[in-house]
Amino acid sequence: MTALGGRRAMVTGGAGGIGMACATGLAEAGVEVVIADVSEEACARALEGLPEGVTSRAFDVRDRAACEAAFAAEAEKGGVDILVTCAAVVKASPILDFDPDDWTRILDVNLTGTFHCCQLAGRQMVAKGWGRIITLSSVNGQIANAGRGAYSCTKGGVDMLTRLLAAELGDKGVTANAVAPIPVDTPMIRQVHGPKDRAAWHARTPNPRYAQPEEVASAVTWLASDAADFVNGHILNVDGGFMATGILPGR
Ligand SMILES: NC(=O)c1ccc[n+]([C@@H]2O[C@H](COP(=O)([O-])OP(=O)(O)OC[C@H]3O[C@@H](n4cnc5c(N)ncnc54)[C@H](O)[C@@H]3O)[C@@H](O)[C@H]2O)c1
Repeated sequence: MTALGGRRAMVTGGAGGIGMACATGLAEAGVEVVIADVSEEACARALEGLPEGVTSRAFDVRDRAACEAAFAAEAEKGGVDILVTCAAVVKASPILDFDPDDWTRILDVNLTGTFHCCQLAGRQMVAKGWGRIITLSSVNGQIANAGRGAYSCTKGGVDMLTRLLAAELGDKGVTANAVAPIPVDTPMIRQVHGPKDRAAWHARTPNPRYAQPEEVASAVTWLASDAADFVNGHILNVDGGFMATGILPGR
């Protein structure tokens, strides 16, 4: 894989489980990484577990003015070459019971927040003639797992936003791809999955386990590298074969 030295990356949701793994993977590949997350406290805690040299910027991806200020500050430092969008929230509830306020909140963070960051980073990348946008989606964006409500809808939206960016920016040196995992062992998943959920996923997944954050991060680092130069508009499932499979007799 081509080294990524000299590139600058922003990882939103970089204080979370997958975001920290992505920040670590990119930093180890030589990228100058800034993590973005909702509070100074979350960022400071995350930096303690991240490689030396990683920095942080606290802002809420829902807040357009805060996003603009953060990307303007990045522009002063040379601009963002690689954007990884991990910031997201989840709530499990049947669709007929789904609280409309939760619906709006989840759309605001997961879809509109991703749009803000992709648009602002994309403008910097187009100006440079090179860029990588890598969105964190989910297999829940492609199939309807019962109870995932607004979350699944936002991930379907993120997939289409990613394809749209690929369609419009490919001739300007910028690629946009999504990484779509099955459940990954992170604080987010421990919040919503009990033993019954785990058993249900394992019964349907050829490699019967959850993904590890580092496995998602290695897909992200590859997509950010020159080795993935001609991969554009792709939704890369990191799923142990889940999306390729129907029933698994004997499980
Ligand atoms: N964990 C999984 O099983 C799983 C599976 C598939 C996809 N994903 C996706 O991977 C990404 C990362 O998930 P994770 O498991 O690391 O979750 P996480 O909850 O550990 O991390 C998410 C991070 O986003 C931050 N965040 C939330 N709202 C924000 C906002 N408004 N502004 C800025 N930051 C905000 C949180 O503070 C947190 O640090 C998400 O997009 C998620 O949908 C996760």
